[in-house]
Amino acid sequence: MIYLDYAATTPADPRVVEKMLAYLGHDSCYANPASRSHMLGWQAEAAVESARKQIATGLHCDVRELVWTSGATEANNLAIKGLAEYFADQNDPRKHIVSSATEHKAVLDACTYLETKGYEVTFVRPDDQGVVTPEILEEVVRPDTLLVSVMHVNNETGVINPIKELAEFIKSKGIFFHADCAQSAGKLPLDLSEIPADLVSLCAHKIYGPKGIGVLFVRRSADFQLVSQIHGGGHERGMRSGTLPTHQIAGFGEAFRLSLDEMDGEQSRIESLKKRFVDALQGVDMIVNGEGAMSVAGIVNLSFPGVDGQMLLTALPNLAISSGSACNSASMAPSHVLKAMGLSDELALSSLRFSFGRFTTDADVDNAAAVLKDALLKMQS
Ligand SMILES: Cc1ncc(COP(=O)(O)O)c(C=O)c1O
Repeated sequence: MIYLDYAATTPADPRVVEKMLAYLGHDSCYANPASRSHMLGWQAEAAVESARKQIATGLHCDVRELVWTSGATEANNLAIKGLAEYFADQNDPRKHIVSSATEHKAVLDACTYLETKGYEVTFVRPDDQGVVTPEILEEVVRPDTLLVSVMHVNNETGVINPIKELAEFIKSKGIFFHADCAQSAGKLPLDLSEIPADLVSLCAHKIYGPKGIGVLFVRRSADFQLVSQIHGGGHERGMRSGTLPTHQIAGFGEAFRLSLDEMDGEQSRIESLKKRFVDALQGVDMIVNGEGAMSVAGIVNLSFPGVDGQMLLTALPNLAISSGSACNSASMAPSHVLKAMGLSDELALSSLRFSFGRFTTDADVDNAAAVLKDALLKMQS
């Protein structure tokens, strides 16, 4: 198999695995980091706090602004629902939320859940390249808009939204701003001392860390307290209860540190893999979705007019690729992201996402392009 599905998840880097093992087995530092009565608990807590520091350093924020979650899905839910519930409890009249039609389901579904609780949600369409601009948001924000949630990098197309400009514009209107940065953290610089977002979601498994761990940045100076979505022992300053998974947290910290340390060289190498792949497909009838926008190095989304994407997937059993985001891969419906960009159902259904990463080689790309080209030439003729 050639793995070109890094946007769905990445393998853990061996250096991350090594770090995690120090907190798992019998001879390791496996104690509960909330155990205050013995040294083993203090050691585990120190590991958790050291990882928190690694992430805070990379994001240029305070360690007290980070809340561990089980991933970006939970971080998005905590951000959106936790903020809305806080202001509902204060009898705040603002009941309008703005998001983008190209968001991950974890944002879309948290917003549509709030619609059942009396909120009105406006899902804006991006421009035809998939970009959400301040001008697009300006048309829909209102005096009763409480929150705007827009992702940094789209998981299906790799298109980058101008997150700093969006956050600055939204903050200038006195509205709270949340960004899902699951696909950008560790791949693009993310300096939260410069980007005035109130809430930012991240996860480890897109950057060679373990699955099942994420973090929500909650700006301390912001004028709210999130309402917890998981009740229990009051961990994470009451925002998210549950025993902290030391090994996953230590792995996340290490994965994030490595991604930042190696970002420049790694991202330019991956960018050249993407170019090599697209160049190798010369002669094929295809459209690069979002080609006119800035995009992250590792993702390219291609439509092949007249070709059924599912049939193409079946014709490529040795390629690990997907027709959209992994959470939707059981669905035969056309991608909501591509449709929001203006693609027809037929064109959206002819599209596949290829994503490259740390362990992708030139040979992987050449071989994948060759088998894809071969399958396409057969299908298109
Ligand atoms: C943009 C985006 N948001 C959220 C998620 C969900 O993250 P997690 O799998 O950590 O819950 C993903 C990927 O799965 C994603 O790509």
